[in-house]
Amino acid sequence: MKRACVLAVSAWLASAAWAQSPAPAKDERRTAAPRVVRDAALEARVDALLRRMTLEEKLGQLQQLDGEADGRFRPEHLELARAGRLGSTLNVRGAAQVNELQKAAVEGSRLKVPVLFGFDVIHGYRTVFPIPLAEAASFDPELAEATARAAAAESAAVGLKWTFAPMVDVARDPRWGRVSEGAGEDPYLGSVMARARVRGFQGDDVSREDRVIATAKHWVAYGAAEAGRDYNTTDVSERALREIHFPPFEAAVDAGVGTFMSAFNDVDGTPATANRFTLTRVLREEWGFDGFVVSDYTSVLELIKHGIAADEAEAARKALTAGVDVEMVSRTFAQRLPDLVRSGGVPVATIDQAVRRILRLKIRAGIFERPYVDAGREQTALLTPESRQLARRAAARSMVLLRNEGGLLPLRKDLRTLAVVGPLADDRKAVIGAWSGDGKAEDAVSILAGIQAALGASVPVVHAKGCEIEGGGDEGFAAAVEAAKQADAVVLVVGEAAEMSGEAASRSVIDLPGRQLDLVRAVHAAGKPTVVLLVTGRPLTFPWIAENVPAVLLAWQGGTEAGSAAADVLFGDTNPGGKLPITFPRSVGQVPIYYAHKRTGRPPAEDKWNSKYLDVPVTPQFPFGHGLSYTTFELSGLTLGGTGITASGTLPVQVTVRNTGSRAGDEVVQVYVTDVAASVTRPVKQLRAFERVSLAPGESKTLAFTLGPRDLGLLDARFRWTVEPGEFRITAATSSEGGLTEAFTLR
Ligand code: NOJ
Repeated sequence: MKRACVLAVSAWLASAAWAQSPAPAKDERRTAAPRVVRDAALEARVDALLRRMTLEEKLGQLQQLDGEADGRFRPEHLELARAGRLGSTLNVRGAAQVNELQKAAVEGSRLKVPVLFGFDVIHGYRTVFPIPLAEAASFDPELAEATARAAAAESAAVGLKWTFAPMVDVARDPRWGRVSEGAGEDPYLGSVMARARVRGFQGDDVSREDRVIATAKHWVAYGAAEAGRDYNTTDVSERALREIHFPPFEAAVDAGVGTFMSAFNDVDGTPATANRFTLTRVLREEWGFDGFVVSDYTSVLELIKHGIAADEAEAARKALTAGVDVEMVSRTFAQRLPDLVRSGGVPVATIDQAVRRILRLKIRAGIFERPYVDAGREQTALLTPESRQLARRAAARSMVLLRNEGGLLPLRKDLRTLAVVGPLADDRKAVIGAWSGDGKAEDAVSILAGIQAALGASVPVVHAKGCEIEGGGDEGFAAAVEAAKQADAVVLVVGEAAEMSGEAASRSVIDLPGRQLDLVRAVHAAGKPTVVLLVTGRPLTFPWIAENVPAVLLAWQGGTEAGSAAADVLFGDTNPGGKLPITFPRSVGQVPIYYAHKRTGRPPAEDKWNSKYLDVPVTPQFPFGHGLSYTTFELSGLTLGGTGITASGTLPVQVTVRNTGSRAGDEVVQVYVTDVAASVTRPVKQLRAFERVSLAPGESKTLAFTLGPRDLGLLDARFRWTVEPGEFRITAATSSEGGLTEAFTLR
């Protein structure tokens, strides 16, 4: 074991305020809010406003209410806005609705504080981009930033100034439907994507007309719901919180995210919506978060059902004093806090602190100066040719080629006939996925339509649905097999309906639903070159397909331009370069399965007394980081900047990647770190850097990465950030399996 050497670099210090942790010496904790920089003029403005507010007006700022699903506000919202008792809304949108309600607030109320209009813009507003899990597969943060920027511009044009995105929950259970909304299983990739999305939504100046405030959600460990069942409880150690679940949230804070959303779930005995440790100790005191925290939908009221509050008053008190500033939909703050303040149960200073945070952000967002939206922009800003083009590029860059035996893909465009079969081939709703904002299925290009457009009139495309997505029988199989027989090649489009992932959409079995696997087998038996194209919001299990169908292309839920992008990839106009951001298991019984697992004293081996299954290999079907291309790449020359560095030094890593095939293509070079022996157990490997590069045939490029203490360190047994001397291995690879490895010693 290594000798610990504790780094005196305050930015890396993690505190140990968790009840069970042995308390570190005081000077090892971060006790100040390090990132807060206050603007005196802004503070004076906030204070002046606050001094004039009645308790009811203050509580009004803490209240967020829901509009109608179609974007209209409810009649009572007008009254509340005029009384200064409506701080924000969700779902109210559209210039006319926003302007009318805003007018009640800024012209009809005593203090003229504008309403903040929020909405779930998760992967696009009207132009729908690929689901966030798919975009993570692009390993291209600039792309994620660009789609978030475009989504912000569309949202702002309809009067929104706040999105409840990005979801940065690390998710390692594909049964959980919300894996589709995040960046997958890895804290590092999740952090890179979190930063990119926050930058995309907010830009450098969130007051700009085309920007919206972002929300890091769901704070925290919501992705660890037991058994992958949405809203279920969690049991997560402080180590897992700090090493796995916290990093993308901290990255969002670093990127200047405006708001956090507290999660529905329990975190070690205290639900996230009443958890002082996560909401105040970590978020405010360790990280210096300066924005505000909104609860999740009715999650304050749900503290009663969690069994930690006897009534609404106790729920309100616990949530507010723990660090929730805005209550979404339930009204315990507005209704119960007045009595609590009178009885001394809640200090008015706690309410003032929440109001300050809200007013500060409203001022920074520029809505005092520009409360209204220009109705004209709504007509011109949505679904522009540029945003459709971006959606097409994003969808194509997100696709992952899982298998391509014999180089079946790309297909030639001069086929005599192509069969496009399957229940998802002509489905425009499935491709836009869950949480698709105000995206409309009728705007979307189905996979079939994309293929037809690419082939033009000269190549007949025979389409047969074959079966339903779920349920139904095999009556359609014969026509599907017949279509395959007539064709030179078959594209089988199978997967999940939009509503099978997203919120409240957990599945206990993650096979292809309904009769789809039987359809694939029947069509494959026709003996034609067969491609399976998967439309899905989560990893699925499909071992028979993975072993028998020569080509499998993961298209995810690609958004408005999914079909055009699928055709770009199928016919080789775009060479796929995406990589899996989440492990694809062979069977649901392997879950949780992820690459950065801890070691065991009995690693899998042939003999009996080792960690494995009797009925399935321990390896996944497709590992994290996996993804093929129509060309081939070779890594060589992995060199570390010396064989030893000091704990505070940096380690230069170089590796050369060469396109050894005959087509231009992209490779994602991934750098993993293994700490061979440490004072606490470490994952077998951890992604610490990556770069997606485009190379012409024969071209090679030497990539340079720099690993620092943050990449090599760990939280010791007392949760102090530490870099321990000893041996490390650095692997450069094109997937989390395999690659080139070099060792070095940290002194
Ligand atoms: C509940 C979801 O958990 C959250 O992600 C979403 O932002 C809110 N509802 C508002 O729609």
